Amino acid sequence: MSGKFILSLFVINLIVSCSSNSTPSEKKDSSDSLLNARHSYSNYDEARLDSLHLYLKIDFKSQMLRGIAHWRIADCRSESIVLDTRSMEINQVWVDGVKVNFEQSGDHPIFGKGLRIPVRKESKSLEIAYTTHPDAEALQWMKPEQTAGGKPFLYTQSQAILARTWVPCMDVPAVRFTYSASVECDSQYRVLMSAENPKQRDKEGLFQFSMNQPIPSYLLALAAGDIQYHAYEERCGVFAEPVVLNKAIKELKDLPAMINAAEELYGPYHWGKYDVLFLPSSFPFGGMENPRLTFATPTILAGDGSLVALVAHELAHSWSGNLVTNRTWNDFWLNEGFTVYFEQRIMEAVYGKEYSDMLEVLGYEDLKSTLEEMKPDDPDSKLYLDLYGRDPDDGVSDIAYEKGRFFLVHLENLVGRENFDAFLREYFAAYAFQTMTTVEFIDYLRSDLLNKNPAWLEGAHIDEWVYQPGLPNDFVPPVSEAFQDVDSIVPAILSDDPNAIALTKTWTTHHWLHFIRGLNTPMDTNVLRQLDRRFGFSQANAEIADRWFVLAVQSNWVAMEPFIRNFLNNVGRRKFLTPLYRAMHDANPYWQTQARLIYEVSRPGYHAVSIGTLNELFEIE
Ligand code: BES
Ligand code: ZN
Repeated sequence: MSGKFILSLFVINLIVSCSSNSTPSEKKDSSDSLLNARHSYSNYDEARLDSLHLYLKIDFKSQMLRGIAHWRIADCRSESIVLDTRSMEINQVWVDGVKVNFEQSGDHPIFGKGLRIPVRKESKSLEIAYTTHPDAEALQWMKPEQTAGGKPFLYTQSQAILARTWVPCMDVPAVRFTYSASVECDSQYRVLMSAENPKQRDKEGLFQFSMNQPIPSYLLALAAGDIQYHAYEERCGVFAEPVVLNKAIKELKDLPAMINAAEELYGPYHWGKYDVLFLPSSFPFGGMENPRLTFATPTILAGDGSLVALVAHELAHSWSGNLVTNRTWNDFWLNEGFTVYFEQRIMEAVYGKEYSDMLEVLGYEDLKSTLEEMKPDDPDSKLYLDLYGRDPDDGVSDIAYEKGRFFLVHLENLVGRENFDAFLREYFAAYAFQTMTTVEFIDYLRSDLLNKNPAWLEGAHIDEWVYQPGLPNDFVPPVSEAFQDVDSIVPAILSDDPNAIALTKTWTTHHWLHFIRGLNTPMDTNVLRQLDRRFGFSQANAEIADRWFVLAVQSNWVAMEPFIRNFLNNVGRRKFLTPLYRAMHDANPYWQTQARLIYEVSRPGYHAVSIGTLNELFEIE
């Protein structure tokens, strides 16, 4: 990038304090159907922006980012370039260093606004000075009392289409670009990005980042807070607030073994370092595969390593998703189904088959209950989704994850593990740093694998698996011997037989989850009380506690209410919030009232993503 266009952060301040010179256009966007199909205003088929430099200033006080996004134009066949923006003020725009008049169009509640910038075919760069809004959905500003260590914290969540709330960009997975960033922040914080992370600030007090491998916008990520690092080895380690770090180090001690297992399965890790950052508990997801720096929920810090499959999952995305990326959100199963399959292969390699069989059955149980809640012909139970005009977040369900994984298990069983692994290794190598659609994948599957054997071609049943709702007739439910053992001693445990209880000493979180899921609802509260006294479910890790609390609500065990309130007040992960609030919402008026009261108090600590889902449940606008 030439020095001429590099603007200092001082200039950003100046620009931001002046008012914008362009009024947003009221003109109706004529390309509504493209917008609905792509979830984006951007004209990425007419212009290619292949590299970004970001100047950012993090302001905790006003909860805003002030920034300049400098995009390099690699190729342009149009008279304007359109970017996605949402909840941000555009202060000024330059093309090749010359100020231009821009236009903003549309004001869609999910897709935001298009930012149209006039360019010429030979234009080489765009610069956009902007300020984010305190309500920008990708940005979660945590107050001191909302973090483990009592210091403010900021983190982003860009997937699926929230990057546009903190960076003006072509916010579609089809577009890849490299990036670098210079970030200014108060001296008490450490800043991290999904990039090569500097050990310290430079002489100007800035954090400098670079990501030399091209990524889609949904993998842009930023975090700032009181964060410390521990390296397990040269290429991997863990970041967390100081009070969380020791626990995190112990929990993820098998991280180097997981990375080795993953490489052994599907080829070299392409991203240099692999670190995990533990976020405050408001993080709405379990994990997010930001390249080089997975973001993780602290709810997996169980103390015994029993929930680390989540890290195997995010690590696996370094191949499925980050290396070979779904081109559209309709192809989401290519990211998640592959990743769940890959995650379980890593778990099997590191912890053995008995362990990964349990994970597989738990996943199947989730899928079964998701399907039971859907109508048999619900189009959202197809692997290939139709998210036209909808928030791509609607596609996040067990269908993409578990049905996707079971399709790959089905193919593995059909062709044999050795052949299937070789095929996947080739697939990741052939399409590294590219995007993939369902149709292209199916073509590749046929030509590179199934065509080798007529029996494979016939047995694959691609149409049923990919384009039909529900589960195909050839689906074989998984079994876990460990869970069969659990089932056989449940009656003895419930009748307090000490011999049976002695057998539970070796049980892990997964055995207990299966046990709790298998209990009838409603349960006699006396039995629940006995079980809780003996096994401490209400004090256990978040996976167990959440299930236990759902059962408690369904059994109208009112004495659990303070524990439930405390849990909901401290955990922001949507996967735990939704079933528990829903159970309360569906129960008697007592629980319905409690649900609303607890939600009112806890909501300010939740992320916009979780709030969106819960508002829908409570029918709050
Ligand atoms: N990439 C997803 C999270 C995501 C998906 C965020 C779609 C926004 C839109 C991540 O890899 C993921 O799948 N997380 C799971 C982990 C689990 C399956 C182990 C989660 O958060 O629960
Ligand atoms: Zn995932």
